[in-house]
Amino acid sequence: MSDSPITPEAPQPTANPGEPAPHAPGEASEHTPGVSVRHSRSKGEPRFPDGPKPDPAGSHFERRIRSFQPRRSRVTAGQADALQRLWPKWGLDIDGRDIDLEELFGNAHPVVLEIGFGMGEATAQMAAADLGTNILAVDVHTPGQGNLLNLADQNGLPNVRVGNGDAIILLREMLASDSLDGLRVYFPDPWPKKRHHKRRLIQPEFLSLAATRLKPGAIVHCATDWEPYAEQMLEVLTAHPDFENTQADGGFAPRPDYRPLTRFEGQGLDKGHVVNDLLFRRVQR
Ligand SMILES: C[S@@+](CC[C@H](N)C(=O)[O-])C[C@H]1O[C@@H](n2cnc3c(N)ncnc32)[C@H](O)[C@@H]1O
Repeated sequence: MSDSPITPEAPQPTANPGEPAPHAPGEASEHTPGVSVRHSRSKGEPRFPDGPKPDPAGSHFERRIRSFQPRRSRVTAGQADALQRLWPKWGLDIDGRDIDLEELFGNAHPVVLEIGFGMGEATAQMAAADLGTNILAVDVHTPGQGNLLNLADQNGLPNVRVGNGDAIILLREMLASDSLDGLRVYFPDPWPKKRHHKRRLIQPEFLSLAATRLKPGAIVHCATDWEPYAEQMLEVLTAHPDFENTQADGGFAPRPDYRPLTRFEGQGLDKGHVVNDLLFRRVQR
């Protein structure tokens, strides 16, 4: 594990796909000193007026089958403060509008897209360890967005932007061709039940879309602690004509030094799960 000083703001409840988060200690209230959080909003009034929008793309862009399940999320006072204060500076609503990555980051450094950063601790550690790489970190999880904004602020990370919404819409509607230098998908929701397998993110259709946005030579890095999903990832990545395995034996890769242990990984390891990393390269057309 990395020995970076970046740590979560507060212990967060385990979040399984589809399960509402249990009560979080430190949840914002109108009695929290220095934080103004309104508990009674009138209908249609945004939760965070200057923060992430609840449904930035609207139903127009939504795919019917999604890789995440929206859930009501409790937001701590610190996360609420970050969402209000830092969203206008570092937040990006995934609303279907074109984005210019140089404009978004204020420089022309390489950009890596991370899909599903969770609470963002690993993202912040990777950003701190490589300030020359920009990380566009996307998730739908509001507490995590607040947590990552706080981590970026507290650790002075100019190279992180926090996307709110479905990464599919970001890839399909908003990013230009050949604009990404890498893609990271760490511990995506495993959707273990057979009837939910169609919700898994790593599928041939997703890889075809991602390939159009990745530069030749860009690395796709996936990791999972769910072995049947790891096998599926290996199978679909190996079969896809736009990607080649970086491993000479065509198998899983050792965890690269730059990837810290993630929150979900820790939970999987506690249960005795085996973690597999996959490192594939976008081939030249
Ligand atoms: C199991 S969590 C893993 C979080 C983190 N990477 C870790 O290892 O601790 C998967 C995350 O992916 C997010 N997610 C799933 N599909 C997504 C999508 N299409 N766009 C954005 N985020 C997505 C979920 O909201 C969830 O926070």
